[in-house]
Formats: sequence, structure tokens, C-alpha cells
Amino acid sequence: MTDLVVVGAGLFGLTVAERMATQHGLEVLVIDRRSHIGGNAYSAVEPETGIEVHQYGAHLFHTSNERVWEYVNRFTRFTSYVHRVYSTHRGEVYPLPINLGTINQFFRSALGPAAARALIREQAAELGGRTPRNLDEQGVNLIGRPLYEAFVRDYTAKQWQTDPRELPASIISRLPVRYTYDNRYFSDTYEGLPVDGYTAWLERMADHPKITVRLATDFFDPSQPVSKQAVVGQVPVVYTGPVDRYFDHSEGELSWRTLDFEQEVLAVGDFQGTSVMNYPDADVPYTRIHEFRHFHPERDYPDDRTVIMREFSRFAGRSDEPYYPVNTATDRDRLAAYRRLVEGEPGVFFGGRLGTYQYLDMHMAIAAALSTVDNRLGALFS
Ligand code: FAD
Ligand code: NA
Repeated sequence: MTDLVVVGAGLFGLTVAERMATQHGLEVLVIDRRSHIGGNAYSAVEPETGIEVHQYGAHLFHTSNERVWEYVNRFTRFTSYVHRVYSTHRGEVYPLPINLGTINQFFRSALGPAAARALIREQAAELGGRTPRNLDEQGVNLIGRPLYEAFVRDYTAKQWQTDPRELPASIISRLPVRYTYDNRYFSDTYEGLPVDGYTAWLERMADHPKITVRLATDFFDPSQPVSKQAVVGQVPVVYTGPVDRYFDHSEGELSWRTLDFEQEVLAVGDFQGTSVMNYPDADVPYTRIHEFRHFHPERDYPDDRTVIMREFSRFAGRSDEPYYPVNTATDRDRLAAYRRLVEGEPGVFFGGRLGTYQYLDMHMAIAAALSTVDNRLGALFS
């Protein structure tokens, strides 16, 4: 007997399943339409090289949430990897996020923190106090024209396939500039990568006698036994797929950006010397190159081959993987309409990044799942 059906074996669904099985003793059935668990955090070993490749884009774990950190450490240990990103602009490599090192390299200067701050403030005053009308003006307003044009303008245009003058200012509310030489990408208390890989971690979450996982099973396929028709109203459901798809897009489609990845095995031991290199210039079609060996310098990887992945960004069609919510005014209206429909769907709990149409980092998806268990699901069964 199944007590709870969880649609989606991503971090939200797995966290709910693990807690409901372990803490509440329920029989949980998890389904996923993909052929693997883990959702977008899934990774696989590239067979020619043995190098772990994050199949849906590079995933770096970081959190300042004590509860989440304690929880994830029940299933995996983490390495001491610290994420750093560099950016190749006009044939020169700069550190990101924009910091004192970036500023002094870019302006060929040796400014201290106060002088650099004054320079950026002066450059950012170009609009003279006028409210930015679009993303281009917003960028200038936040960090001044030179740095904005070098590191943000064309990168953003590539991400959105849209001229930033046509994009709303609201896409970027802040562009962090650090007036120190600290180029750690994340500033959370805890950071690292799962020692034996993402998939081992995610599989341990599902490894419980009361959890059954059924892969290659689409909730909307009426020919399989755990379809929407068969279970809604019979058994409580946690649904982590796209909210618009659940309601047959009755309020219109929510728009997403997707990514395309081009993976290549190269016959060199080290291609770029670091895990992520951004390409902010308009004449390069991709946005970044990931080199996976650098996520695990502690591993014994081959020294004559490496795996790289070029990342391209575009708007998603219905058959593409939805990655980042576009979140236009139309999307927000539609989301409000779907939220009203969600209210009228008792016994179905919508969660995760697709079920709530919001970008969630892994630690946020886990934290949201833990509070759904505390505040809503736990009470249902106690
Ligand atoms: P998902 O992982 O998307 O899981 C949802 C699951 O539901 C999927 O497996 C899907 O197949 C399944 N599903 C959907 N519809 C159906 C259906 N009809 N029937 C059955 N199953 C269905 N987070 C970080 O913390 N650090 C990072 O560096 C980071 N990088 C990222 C990079 C990219 C490109 C993206 C897109 C995300 C990144 N994230 C990162 C976010 C991370 O992937 C999410 O936090 C995580 O995926 C959220 O888990 P989830 O369970 O909500 O969703
Ligand atoms: Na990432």
C-alpha cells in the first residue's frame, strides 16, 4: 500500500520522500519521467575518462543553513572545493565576481578600496539620478558603463537572446562589486562537492525500505498505474513537475530559458586550468566553458585527457528542459492564476522549482522540502 506518491526524484522530491519514510514511517512511491534519479543535480561518469560530469550544468553545493547542512551530511561528505570563476574578455582573463583585482586589471590601476569605490560611484552616476528604463541603463547605473559593457552587457544579451535595451531593468536588481581581492564565488558558511559524486548522494537518500522509485514513468501517461487520473483523490501527492503542465496549460504557458550543452573529450590533461571560464563577448556564441576535472582536484583523473562542456542559452520550447524562469509580467499573471488552481486541488502539494516556478538552489529546494514536511505533510499523517 502506498501512503504518498511523489512526482519527481529531484532534491525536493527525494527530501520529502526520505523524511516521510524515515520520520513518519510512510510507504512512499517516487516516480520520475527521466531514466535516472536526482533531477537536475544528477551527474554521470564520462566513460572514456572516468571524469564525473554534471549532466544538467555545473552544480556547486553551498549553504549557510545549519539545518540543511546537517541534513545533507547524513547522506554524503563534502570536499573542500571552493568555487571561483574567471572571465575571458577581449583576449584577457579577469577574476569574477567583479572585485578589486578585476577593477585594477581592467583600468590598469593600483587603486585601494576607497579610491576604487569612488571611481565606480562616479561612473555609475552617468544617468544623473534618472530611473533606469531598461536593463542596459540599470547596468550602467549599478557599476558604470566600462565594467558593465565588458562583463555584463553582451553576456546578458547571449543569455536572453535579446538586446539589453529591450529587457526590463528588473532582471538585475544588484551587481555585486567587491572592494577586496576576495574572489570566492559564494559567501556561504558551507561549500563543497559530494565526495563520491552527486548520484551516490542522491541514491542514498532514496535507499530506504519504505521508498520505492519508479523511473521512466510520466505522471501524465494514463497507461501507467501511478498516473494523475489514477492517484489524485486516492492518495496524497507531492508534485514537483511544471505547474502549468499539471493543469494542461489552461492559464497559458509559463516561459523558461533552457541551456544547450556541447560536451567534448580533449586529448590534453588540462584545457583551461580552472573549472568555469565565462565568455562575456558578443563574438563568442557560448556563455561559458566548464572543465569537470577541476571540480575534483583530489581525484585520480587521467593526465592526458579532459572533459569540457560549452554552455549556450536560449528560450525554451515545450519539448526543451525548463531551466530558469523568464518571469515576465505575463508569466507573473499566469502564475497567480495557477496558484488559485493549486488551492482548489486538495491532497496535491506543489513544490520544487518547477512546481512553484522559481529558481531554487539545491539548499533552497531542500530547505523548502523540509518545511513542507514540517508544516503541511507531517500534520496530514499524524
Ligand atoms: P528538479 O531537480 O528539476 O526535479 C524535478 C523532477 O521532476 C525532474 O527529475 C523531472 O524529470 C521530474 N518530473 C517533471 N515532470 C514530471 C512528470 N510529468 N512525471 C514524472 N516526473 C516528472 N543549485 C545549486 O545549489 N548550485 C548550483 O550550482 C546549481 N546550478 C544549477 C545549474 C543549472 C543549469 C540549473 C538549471 C539549476 C542549478 N541549480 C543549482 C539548481 C538545482 O538544480 C535545483 O535546486 C534542483 O534541481 C531543485 O530540485 P527540484 O527537485 O525542485 O527540481
Ligand atoms: Na551552477
